[in-house]
Amino acid sequence: MNFMSVKREAIAAVTETDPSKAFFAMRNAHAYYGESYIVQGVSLDVQQGEIVALLGRNGAGKTSTLRTIARLDDPELRQGEIWLEGKPIHTMKAWQASRAGIQLVPEDRRIIAGLTVEENLTLSQVAPGHGWSLDEIYAHFPRLADRRKQEGVTLSGGEQQMLAVARALAREVKLLLLDEPYEGLAPVIVKEIEGIVHSIKERGITTIIVEQNAVAALRMADRAVILDTGELVFAGSARDLLENESLRKEYLAI
Ligand SMILES: Nc1ncnc2c1ncn2[C@@H]1O[C@H](COP(=O)(O)OP(=O)(O)OP(=O)(O)O)[C@@H](O)[C@H]1O
Ligand SMILES: [Mg+2]
Repeated sequence: MNFMSVKREAIAAVTETDPSKAFFAMRNAHAYYGESYIVQGVSLDVQQGEIVALLGRNGAGKTSTLRTIARLDDPELRQGEIWLEGKPIHTMKAWQASRAGIQLVPEDRRIIAGLTVEENLTLSQVAPGHGWSLDEIYAHFPRLADRRKQEGVTLSGGEQQMLAVARALAREVKLLLLDEPYEGLAPVIVKEIEGIVHSIKERGITTIIVEQNAVAALRMADRAVILDTGELVFAGSARDLLENESLRKEYLAI
């Protein structure tokens, strides 16, 4: 058996069921930046309420996969399907995918300068009755409550990350996509954000987390997938991955 057939089998393992009946399913997605072929046939199923760690080396295509799911213009999805609760996300623009409940928290956090914490949050509350209220957000993020009148960009890195996550929750959120939420943060702040992601999970929200800090991501994740040059090379439980030394060494450097 060559390496390619191993990859094909890994993909087949998650593509047996009808994607329109899954909570979330990405099937055979191919996406391009112009002529650069980056997301190369990724299939991914996620159950409601799960935390899935999406891992892989630098440049493996993790951010591109999240951007594809969120239906941003780049990379362009040219083949494949994406379904969330029976809705064909692959036919949607980014604003429609967001309205359907897919919220991407990008790596650079995008806190709006010149606005307070509270203004950053209220600006995200696009549709009344959808997403969390300010009271619910402040109950989960007491640090943001303390700093509600402070300009968002003057917060610490950890607090800005909390604000970026809170802003996603202020919208309709069924599937939360976190791109390197722990980047540049001290271990104690990482633990605090982990606690927040856990409490989000208890509220029934499903999360895909991309992290360089694979140990921290796997501590929380129910399942893990590994991408390599735009293709899935592993899908399984976080425990199976942690126990597989060769996968850990080859793709995660842990
Ligand atoms: N806007 C772009 N135009 C062309 N190629 C891009 C663009 N953005 C990313 N790429 C390329 O796509 C590939 C995957 O990049 P991507 O950012 O998705 O990887 P990643 O797994 O998130 O990496 P990292 O761990 O460094 O964040 C890389 O080869 C990268 O150079
Ligand atoms: Mg990335």
